[in-house]
Amino acid sequence: MEASVAISRAEGLGRTLRRDRWWVAPLSVAVGLGICGAYATWAIFQGRNYFAEPYLSPFYSPCLGAQCPEEIRLLEFGWWPMSPAILLMWVILGFRGTCYYYRKAYYRAYFIDPPACAVGEHRGHRYRGETAFPFVLQNLHRYFLYLSAFILAFLWYDSLKAFFFEDGFGVGVGTIVLLVNVGLLTGYTFGCHSLRHLVGGNVDCYSCAQFGDGRHRLWRGATFFNRNHMAWAWTSLIYVCLADLYVRLVASGIITDLRIL
Ligand code: FES
Repeated sequence: MEASVAISRAEGLGRTLRRDRWWVAPLSVAVGLGICGAYATWAIFQGRNYFAEPYLSPFYSPCLGAQCPEEIRLLEFGWWPMSPAILLMWVILGFRGTCYYYRKAYYRAYFIDPPACAVGEHRGHRYRGETAFPFVLQNLHRYFLYLSAFILAFLWYDSLKAFFFEDGFGVGVGTIVLLVNVGLLTGYTFGCHSLRHLVGGNVDCYSCAQFGDGRHRLWRGATFFNRNHMAWAWTSLIYVCLADLYVRLVASGIITDLRIL
């Protein structure tokens, strides 16, 4: 208790009585998010090399737009002249950008507000949390969750389609890559705080509530994934970039997909 009082008394940006390397976490987040963000932006704007039968890059699913190959095109959208991935990227960006974990991570890493627990922050501004524009928009998270669940369903469909080659059923390295990718994204989505609240929130007594048993089971499932939400967030983020890279390398002929079965 005494230590925490003493630490909280260190004032001024970056000032602290902490002796550990508190800056490692925000710095790692800044670098990690920067690299993944830069790669994803580049890949999304490419608009090519995202499909290598039967593999579709997760950034391009579901494929909307006249540029999409006919066999994977969901909607024509002839009016759209740019990369098909841009059409839906706002959903994924909105979902990750408003995620409770990422908010903490990038507030610390990029806004230095605060840099870390018990480390001095900017002074002279009125703290309004997430009650005023633009941060009040963070409350849209649950709606981004609903839209992302829709995209996740397509990613599952794509990963199952990745078992079907021109010559029939099979398993390639790409099949495994896409399957692991959708598994990680599912773990991230199912551990969402909003989802956990949706299935189990506002209930004081499960045995008294309507569908209480089912809701309790769902809540326990969401809690299982939620416990390591940060780990799911990072592994799924890094891996989705690697999955795109794999499909891209196969589609551009730089590497050949290895058939395991
Ligand atoms: S809180 Fe992280 S995805 Fe919802």
